[in-house]
Amino acid sequence: MKIAFFDAKSYDMESFTEVNESFGFKIKYFETKLNTDSALLTKGFDVVCVFVNDFVNEEVINILVNNGVKLIALRCAGFNNVDFKSCHNRIKVVRVPQYSPYSVAEHTMGLMMALNRKIHKAYQRTKEANFTLNGLLGFDFYNKTAGIIGTGKISLILIKILKGFGVNVIAYDPFPKNELSIELNFTYVPLEEIYMKSDIISLHCPLNHETEYIINENTINKMRKGVMIINTGRGKLINTQDLINGLKNKKIGSAGLDVYEEEADYFFEDYSGEVLNDDTLARLLTFNNVIITSHQAFFTKEALNNIAETTLLSVKELKEGLKLSNEIAYICENGECSPKDVK
Ligand code: NAI
Repeated sequence: MKIAFFDAKSYDMESFTEVNESFGFKIKYFETKLNTDSALLTKGFDVVCVFVNDFVNEEVINILVNNGVKLIALRCAGFNNVDFKSCHNRIKVVRVPQYSPYSVAEHTMGLMMALNRKIHKAYQRTKEANFTLNGLLGFDFYNKTAGIIGTGKISLILIKILKGFGVNVIAYDPFPKNELSIELNFTYVPLEEIYMKSDIISLHCPLNHETEYIINENTINKMRKGVMIINTGRGKLINTQDLINGLKNKKIGSAGLDVYEEEADYFFEDYSGEVLNDDTLARLLTFNNVIITSHQAFFTKEALNNIAETTLLSVKELKEGLKLSNEIAYICENGECSPKDVK
């Protein structure tokens, strides 16, 4: 089995090379992202391994299929960057449904804590021997209300963490897990109630037609003044311009963003010596009540190891002609293909 590994970073190469010692596949690492140009490099490979910001559109898939690639292995959980219609009956797609929900849940909590207690500002201040407290005032999480959108693997862990802080948790999910809500002591409510009652809103649903721009001018208007918004899901869950307006008019008190709707050109890359051409991202970076991390919520040793294990296991299943345990299921109707709801 030959694997063409795109958007390879040093940490990917380290973890995959180590885990691959027990699989013995041939992995060729390409630093470039997968796109219509780099897809031409896949001739002779059985599998392409891609990440969140690689392009897996119709044109790319046509090239992969023509080159004899049999499997697209996403080394991530989300799959909004794949055109399933072009894959249908031509090429299989697997993902890593769970690599470490703890990593993302813990990072989410980290963003909440840092924003609330202004750790990012305190760090800079004390570095310059400024030991004043003005502007660093936070609030007790105890007894506040967190509204969680999407109650999957990640947010169920986050809910447990929040409960440890004595936070009252309300949640929305079209597929509620009622037994778990009793066990973990949180309440399912309609989305409207999430907007109206939450001091903190955290996004953990997949990006799809229903959830794109779920946070927009209209929904922001329904929120409490000073609300904290956290997004470790996908960038397009938030209309960034509306978020900026909400921050400017102080309706939004703070925002923690691990993802950004136009992140593909920037995240995971070093632009520190360049001019930032994305004016929206540049504006977001000017707010001292916004913390942006570059899609790093997943980034723990345990997660990288699990990603490599699960991905290479999928390749092994393909090699042995077995059912692919982590194949993404989707339904095609009236010329459209959409993934089945992943609960
Ligand atoms: P999951 O599949 O376990 O849970 C997603 C939940 O969202 C499910 O309970 C589903 O029923 C619910 N959902 C579906 N449609 C919804 C809607 N319209 N409104 C509200 N909820 C809806 O997913 P998991 O593993 O918890 O991950 C959640 C998201 O986090 C992923 O889709 C991915 O985009 C993102 N993610 C981000 C990472 C990062 O490093 N920042 C790493 C891993 C995942």
